[in-house]
Amino acid sequence: MCEVNKEVLSVKSESVQLSVERWTLRSHSVYVEILSLGAVITSIKTKDRNGHLADIVLGFDDAESYLTNPRYFGAVVGRVANRIAKGQFVIGGKVYKLAINNGPNALHGGIRGFDKALWTCEAVDNGVRLSHISPDGDEGYPGNLKVSVTYTLEANTLSVQYHAHTDQTTPINLTNHSYFNLSGQGTLDIYDHEVTISAEAYLPVDDTMIPTGEIRSVDNTLFDLRKPVLLGPRLKELPSPGFDHNFCLWVPGAPKLHTKCARVMHPGTGRVLEVSTTQPGVQFYTSNFLDGSLRGKGGATYPKHSAFCLETQNWPDAVNQPQFPDALLRPEEEYMHTTHFTFSVA
Ligand code: GLA
Repeated sequence: MCEVNKEVLSVKSESVQLSVERWTLRSHSVYVEILSLGAVITSIKTKDRNGHLADIVLGFDDAESYLTNPRYFGAVVGRVANRIAKGQFVIGGKVYKLAINNGPNALHGGIRGFDKALWTCEAVDNGVRLSHISPDGDEGYPGNLKVSVTYTLEANTLSVQYHAHTDQTTPINLTNHSYFNLSGQGTLDIYDHEVTISAEAYLPVDDTMIPTGEIRSVDNTLFDLRKPVLLGPRLKELPSPGFDHNFCLWVPGAPKLHTKCARVMHPGTGRVLEVSTTQPGVQFYTSNFLDGSLRGKGGATYPKHSAFCLETQNWPDAVNQPQFPDALLRPEEEYMHTTHFTFSVA
């Protein structure tokens, strides 16, 4: 059983006051806080092996900071999470152009993506459903898209269920962008975390972070995380500033499975996070772009490598890469994905 509560906060945005809802979900072992702004998860508190609670996600103390939230802490990212090459794609012979907001590419839904929207909330069993309507032409995307994200907490598992319908064919790729540090948010790095990702392949990227198109086996590479790997030494070996890559959980043509995709364990506290998903990929990101300049919860400064993200999603730039899993939602279809985050101790 999970206890669900709501309060309303008044948040100042430029000259207007916004009513932002803060929902809390509490089970015997896990506490989760969610804002209607950006459908952001602002807090996840879990116990360590001695029963001590700590908040294990990065974020801000005040709701106002989520109006800008430049690194997408905890947010639902859409209409299309991750990168679209040159912010451009073609559907039915028509070229669509998006805002370019990341080098030459479009990232995370645009200038005002779903992470900046004020979602409508309703209570459901063990959780909350947040809904949003993205109008035709929103950030350059076609079709009126109705989307909902349902967060439920049962015992030690937080589930996130994504649904969407459209009236015109559109690309879609929804994820949650929580930054975890299992030793407690505000801890300086994640070098002592052990990571396992059950992926046989990953996507190499070009120097603008767009997949080259190759689906490369992890065999004999630094991307082989199929057995637990201690992050600190592995990050030192990588030629890039860290992990910021899609791991392939499913290959086109195979039956869709609910895949246990990742396990992260923090030996010091015993905290374990396990992730499973129906999505075909997971972007493993080691917060390479954090640089200590944001003022986080409790005054924490979040340096590079102070957290990790496991963004379950479709493969980046799939709308432009025909050999990748289908990125389009058509009017007669239903978009539906589920990701489970399970918290335990070892
Ligand atoms: C994703 C991307 C990163 C970065 C972060 C946000 O994880 O893959 O490159 O853009 O979001 O800072």
